[in-house]
Amino acid sequence: MKDLFNLSGKVALVTGGGTGIGKAIAIALARYGAKIGIHYHSSKSDAEQTLVEIEMLGSKGILLQADLTVEDQANSIVDKLISEFGRLDILVNNAGSPVKRSKIEECPVELWKNVFDVNMTSAFMVTKRAIPHLRKTKNGSIVNIISLSVQTGGANGAGPYAAAKGALLVFTRTLARELAPEIRTNAVCPGVIETRHHEMFSTPERMQEYKMETPLGRNGKSEEVASTVLYLVSNAASFVNGALIDVNGGRFLR
Ligand SMILES: NC(=O)c1ccc[n+]([C@@H]2O[C@H](COP(=O)([O-])OP(=O)(O)OC[C@H]3O[C@@H](n4cnc5c(N)ncnc54)[C@H](OP(=O)(O)O)[C@@H]3O)[C@@H](O)[C@H]2O)c1
Repeated sequence: MKDLFNLSGKVALVTGGGTGIGKAIAIALARYGAKIGIHYHSSKSDAEQTLVEIEMLGSKGILLQADLTVEDQANSIVDKLISEFGRLDILVNNAGSPVKRSKIEECPVELWKNVFDVNMTSAFMVTKRAIPHLRKTKNGSIVNIISLSVQTGGANGAGPYAAAKGALLVFTRTLARELAPEIRTNAVCPGVIETRHHEMFSTPERMQEYKMETPLGRNGKSEEVASTVLYLVSNAASFVNGALIDVNGGRFLR
């Protein structure tokens, strides 16, 4: 059973790997033996700290800075990872953000496009560059981090974000068809996870209300998303392709 989760010899790229959910994913995969490409945009010191923690686990990592809304920069993180480690087995498209809350009727087109760039086009560009390398391994894995808002619609001005994450879900399902059998593609749909995301976009009062709306009576931790990603990229999920796994404490039941 332990071997099912063994990632030694594998290389993973985690976008937004310096903070929150991405950091927890990077550490979880390193704990099971993967070498990690830790992508970050602006959180350099957080990414450096993630690298320190990965090295303390006895694994290796590389820091990869990029604004993933820019094609050359998105391509560069894959290219640098390949020149450092020579292969790519696992891609986790985790970077994303609501950017700014706006109701649809008030949303400037530039904001709409930027939200799609940050949450959807970034994942498209990194994935496109990564596919030839993932294919080569014959057992590649992609996990996209979606949002519960794809099921509920975006509340309180999160409509552009929900739409972009919805596109990322359909993208996931398309990849699951196009890239199999060499690559499996799946998605994780977090509920309310206590990270900087909510420090920026939710009030403390709303965080309390979320707990009351959740059957498990609390909000989630980044590590609880990371363990689901670990499962999906491992051989324990060898027949799981095109799936969407909810990690939401039962807050939304499909
Ligand atoms: N927390 C939740 O409750 C929750 C729920 C559902 C889905 N999610 C999703 O989970 C993922 C991680 O979020 P989090 O909660 O861990 O919050 P977070 O710490 O704010 O993480 C967001 C990450 O996205 C990166 N990023 C933002 N804009 C970018 C850009 N233009 N180019 C490259 N990277 C960019 C950030 O990198 P830098 O910090 O280096 O700039 C950061 O690492 C996101 O996709 C989010 O939508 C979170």
